[in-house]
Amino acid sequence: MQIVSDISSLRQLVASYRRDGSSIGFVPTMGNLHDGHLKLVKRAKAHNDIVIVSIFVNPMQFGANEDLDAYPRTIEADQAKLIENGVDALFLPSVSDMYPSGLQAQTFVEVPGISDVLCGASRPGHFRGVATVVSKLFNMVQPDDAFFGEKDFQQLQVIRTMVQDLSMAVNVHGVPTERESSGLAMSSRNGYLSEKEKDTARSLYKEMQQAKALVEEGQLSFADIEKSMVENLEARGFKNDYVRIVNATTLQPATSADKHIAIVAALFMGSTRLIDNLHIER
Ligand code: PAJ
Repeated sequence: MQIVSDISSLRQLVASYRRDGSSIGFVPTMGNLHDGHLKLVKRAKAHNDIVIVSIFVNPMQFGANEDLDAYPRTIEADQAKLIENGVDALFLPSVSDMYPSGLQAQTFVEVPGISDVLCGASRPGHFRGVATVVSKLFNMVQPDDAFFGEKDFQQLQVIRTMVQDLSMAVNVHGVPTERESSGLAMSSRNGYLSEKEKDTARSLYKEMQQAKALVEEGQLSFADIEKSMVENLEARGFKNDYVRIVNATTLQPATSADKHIAIVAALFMGSTRLIDNLHIER
């Protein structure tokens, strides 16, 4: 596996892949890799000749009071996992290469509307940071295909919208959420949880499955289902950020006429913010 940390070496490498006529699949990450990330890598391997992974803990998408400094950095273990999974190149840009004019960079990418609800409402500026770094990474790597997890469902929708609105020549692929056997969605932030918290955290998936069954039965209003989910989760020790039943494309509150619905949730377990979602097709 080639490891490159500066943009010009990356461009040379990409040019050599292109000369060979290879298609390029790209998996952007913030590292601390788990089986969810590796599922994206496997999809890219199956789809493209060459797979490039980036690891960059992007300061622009963290709020002032968030976990930028504490975010787990496990680069050696990450490299071993990527080699094991047959990744061709790992891109490790530095903060100063990514943001040469500092974090208050004058040009940024904003995807209004879809970025303003749910996680965007709780984390102002977060999706601007994500859209900006992903568009910069796309410009650097120039992939044919890019792979994102459905675990971060709103992020996936923001990126799809950005690619469409800015006519970017990248095919965006969504990959289903990888879960622990308990049902807990894999996340780098799960490492912040104590064993007891982790044990409780699994009830989020159970609650979402129950809610999905209720939506499918059509017995209760969406608002009633949301309310009972919040009550049950708070009784278990979660602190609610949001629990919503939304149209899976617009992320606006779902109506009974919607065919593609998502149950989306963000809650705190202790100081750890967990997100998850489940889809319902009708
Ligand atoms: P990170 O949290 O490291 O996630 C990298 C990719 O892995 C994202 O597309 C995310 O949705 C996916 N992923 C995480 N957990 C997953 C799981 N359990 N199952 C399937 N896929 C999963 O998301 C980011 O980094 C950043 O915002 C980034 C896109 C790299 C921009 O900085």
